[in-house]
Parts: sequence; C-alpha cells; structure tokens
Amino acid sequence: MDLKLTTGNSMPVQEGESILHALWRREIYLTASCGGKGTCGKCKVRLIEGKTDIHYYGKLTEADREKGLVLACSVFPRADVLVEIPEGSRLVVGQRIAVSGTTDLAEYLAPDKGIRPLVSSVDLTIPPPTLDDNISDMARLQRALDEAGIPDMRFSRDFTAYMGHALRDAGWDITLDYTDSDGAIFASPRGQKGRYGIAVDVGTTTVVVYLVDLADGKIVDMGLTYNSQMRWGDDVITRIVHATEGGGLEELRKAVVSDINSLINVLRKRHDIERNAVESASVSGNTTMSQLLWGLDPGTIREEPYIPTLNTYPLWRAQSARLKMNPLGPVYTLPSVASYVGGDIVSGVLASKMHRNPELALFMDIGTNGEIALGNNEWLVTAAASAGPCFEGSGIRHGMRATDGAIEKVKIDPVSYEPEVAVIGEAEPTGICGSGMIDAISDMFLTGILDQKGKFVEGLGTDRVIKGEESMEYVIHKNRGTAITLTEVDIENILRAKAAIYAGISLLVSEVGMSMTDIQRVYIAGGFGNYIDIERAVVLGMLPDLPVERFEFLGNTSVAGAYLTLLSDELRAEAEDIASKMTYIELSVSGRFMDEYMSAMFLPHTDLKRFPSVDKILRK
Ligand code: FES
Repeated sequence: MDLKLTTGNSMPVQEGESILHALWRREIYLTASCGGKGTCGKCKVRLIEGKTDIHYYGKLTEADREKGLVLACSVFPRADVLVEIPEGSRLVVGQRIAVSGTTDLAEYLAPDKGIRPLVSSVDLTIPPPTLDDNISDMARLQRALDEAGIPDMRFSRDFTAYMGHALRDAGWDITLDYTDSDGAIFASPRGQKGRYGIAVDVGTTTVVVYLVDLADGKIVDMGLTYNSQMRWGDDVITRIVHATEGGGLEELRKAVVSDINSLINVLRKRHDIERNAVESASVSGNTTMSQLLWGLDPGTIREEPYIPTLNTYPLWRAQSARLKMNPLGPVYTLPSVASYVGGDIVSGVLASKMHRNPELALFMDIGTNGEIALGNNEWLVTAAASAGPCFEGSGIRHGMRATDGAIEKVKIDPVSYEPEVAVIGEAEPTGICGSGMIDAISDMFLTGILDQKGKFVEGLGTDRVIKGEESMEYVIHKNRGTAITLTEVDIENILRAKAAIYAGISLLVSEVGMSMTDIQRVYIAGGFGNYIDIERAVVLGMLPDLPVERFEFLGNTSVAGAYLTLLSDELRAEAEDIASKMTYIELSVSGRFMDEYMSAMFLPHTDLKRFPSVDKILRK
C-alpha cells in the first residue's frame, strides 16, 4: 500500500507502520517533539482519504478533527491513503538558517594571553636526498625537526602513507603541522596553506559552527542550522530512547555529523578554503550530545545512578568523528561534569569568567535542562533542573521556537485585558515562543486574569478569556479563523518549568549556606535567554528577585567556550579545571528540592517575602 501526499509524492507504507514512520523513511520530517509517542500533538497531518487505524487523537481539538487533522504518529494505514502536510507541521532541518560575520561576543571573549591552538606548525627547508645522503624520507624529516629543536616527533601510519609524495610535491620546502600528543598531521608546501579551525556548539536544538583563522584568532564566518536529530524528538531523553533502539545511535550520530559537515562545507566554499586547511576543532555540547557525536551509547545517562560513559574526552582525530576537515586534525571535546551537566555548561562558566572572580555569581542556561552553576574563584556547585523544553514550544498548544512568526513580546492592558504583541520577523503570528510566554503569563497575573496558582479568574467580562475544549484559554491573537491562545494546561506546564529552575537555584544557594541576595551577578546563557524581559521573569518567579543590573545576557556561551578552547591551551586547561572543580548536586533525589519545587509552583512563589519587588507591585 502507498502513502500519497497532496504534493504528488508517493511512498510505500508497511503493515502496522505509522504515517510518521513512513514519512521518515522517505526523509520527510514533521515536528515530532515527543519522538512519536502521541503526546506532543505537533505531528498533525490532514487525512484526505484512505482506510486507517487511528489509535488516538491526543491533544487534537474538536476543531482540528473537523478539519480532518490526525496525528501522523498515531495513524496506521490499512490501504492507500492521501495525506496533506500542513505548513506548520513540516520540520525543516539540516539546512543553514542563518549566517553572519563576526560576533561581538567572540571579540569580547577573545583570549588575552596569545594564541596556542591545538595544532602547532613549523617551516622546514629539507635537503633533498642524494646518492650520498640517502637516508629514508622519515629519517630526513626527523633530522630536519631535530635541527629545528623538535625531537622525537611521532609519525602515524596515515601520515607516513602520503608523506613521501607531500615532501616531493612541496620541493622539500614544507610547513609541517603537528600536535604534541599525536605528532605529525600534515605537510604542505611552505607558507601556501591557510590554517583554520572550527568551534562547534552541538546544541539539542541547533548546531553552530564558527570558522576561525588560527593565525590571528579572528572568526572568519559562522553558520547555524537546526540539529537534525530533532526528527527523533525535541529533548535529550527522547533521543536517548531512540539511541537505545536498534540502529538509533548510528542514525543520531550521522544526523548531527552531517549537520556539522554541511556547515563546514558552506563555510569552506564561501571562503575558498581547502579541506586540509581546517586542521583542528573544538566541540561543546551537553553530555548526551557529546556522546552521540562520538557514537557512544548514552543509555546509562537516563538510568539511575545516571552515569555517562565519559566526562573527559581524549583528543580524538577528525576521521574518528567523520568530520569533513583534515582527517588527522585533532578534535577537542569540552569535558562534562555529570550526565546532565555537560561541556556546554563548562563552556558557559569559562566564558562568563565567574571561576576567576571572587564575587558570588550564578550561571544559568535556560534551555531544556535548565542547568545552573553557582560559585566564584574558590568553588563551584552545579545542578540540572530538568525544566523541559516548554520554553522552546514543546508541550504548549501554540508554542514554537523563537523564529519568524513567533510572538516574542506581550503586553496586556490592565483595564481592557487587550494584548499588544511583537512578532519576530514582523510576520503574521503562527505561535508563541518562550519570551512571549513569560511576558504573557506575568501580565496575566498582574492584571488579575490569573490567580496565584495560575488558574483563570472567572467573571472578568472579556472575550479574551474563553472556555476551550481542554481548559480556559487566553486569546493572544486571532488569525483568520484560528486563534493563538495560552491554555490553563499550557500555563501549568510553564509553571512546572519555571518552578524547577527556581527551586534548583534556591537549593544550590542554600546548600552552600548562602541566600539569594548574596548573588552579585547572574549570567544568562542560551539563545532564548537573550530575549527574556528580566522583570517579567521575576514576576513569573523563574528568576530570583535581584536588581536588574546584576543580570547579564551572554548569548551562546557553548560556542564561545569551544572558540576559546580552540585557540588557547591555557583555556583548555582552565576548562578541564572547571569541570573537575564543580561539585554536582543531583536534584532528582533531593527531598528538599521537591519542597522547594512545590512552593515555586505559584506566581511568583508561595512565600512572597522572597519576591519583594513583586509584592510591592501587587500592593499598589
Ligand atoms: Fe506525534 Fe508527538 S504527537 S510526534
């Protein structure tokens, strides 16, 4: 039997196979936040004709069903079917979505102690062999190295295999690239090859690559794409589950490697750089992403006692990672601390410099895991709050990532309850992203639409509050016929996420015998974090109630850490030191975390004394 699309595509579908799986096999991907479990409600398709088994409708509303919408993961064809994929369901991955030049962040973070990349190079003029001087090529190269003060070079088989040709092609006048650990990696005609490196952030949602000129440390260009692993779910847990299923690990590894490689190719082509000139890489990612990149089974990460295979990675070669750069080039991986505090957080601490300063600082990455680190130049503690991906749109009826069409700012009039919205790309709104959710809920609370428990207050006399199929809803925007709303269930999900983050911070602070007001600096990382309105996030009860000037947005600190460690051996040592110094606190087994979490499930908190600025607004 066949699955036909209204676009004219047709593909076979096997007995007992869902529409979602049949599409996957044809490399057509839908947004599938839950990885095909039927719980996220994002994989909507319109079933136009054909006999099917429909297992359930999950989150689909009555209106969705009237339009013929079904969940692709929960529909199993029993004969030929004709299906339409609505625009909003299609997941566009594996393609570059933005590229820009250098960033201020990278310049601000540029190392101040000189550049010491992973690969060193030396120029050598070697006397060619003669009948009188007839030692082997390798002995000849070693002799030249000895004279240059570089004894005991190691030569791998891969290097040796092409060394003879490389020396002769270069007329014995070469630049030799080498690493302290692996020895010779590349010989090229003297002074002709540029020397580049790549700094890579393997995020759960996006992959970012900086192309860096190793001569001066400048960022030549950067590329960004969605992480194609999203086909198998939005969060690390669904990916781990997929990895432990037959063939899943290799699928996930290949997906992210191909994302990195397509970015490398784009950047190389644009700047006319040969493959071998990209001679080193530094990679930063959370523990699961790092393990998947290296093809390590992440199964034990999600099972008690939550153990990763590696926290500290050897310097592996690009050919082991299958990266399309110099195959012998070294790839450095930022060390992890624990299963849910990875190299991306070590990068963040490094980039913030909080480990160098005496003042008490809090670092937070408000992504899917809500990782936090607290400390100063003497100590560091860290934890992961498992906030979940709702701020990235997952589990929220009209939630979406911060891309074109997302409502990113909301202001609600306290008298009319009418909202004013700002939309990314000034497009017609198609959903609401994390910063918009924070704005909306804090204003709904301050204007009296929501009570302290996040429940709708009845009898306000506004048509902005409606009774939906599942619960009460606030209508943020009306689109021809359909509305973008926040439902009471959405709000509950967001309260859970913010409560996890606040409780995590609160627990870390009390574990070290301090109070929130002792925190002098709060660094917020992550793409989504940059757009947060701090005061609204305090009203929500997600961030501690501290003066706004103590907060600082740092952007993508994961790639910043990769960039810094690509360029400096001292910073690589500092990153290793941060990882070994951090004390990890497992929140999921802490009874006190649960108490803190339950108290934080309110707006902003059960204990208003912890939020004096919000208390003051409410008393007005
Ligand atoms: Fe189908 Fe989540 S409901 S993938």
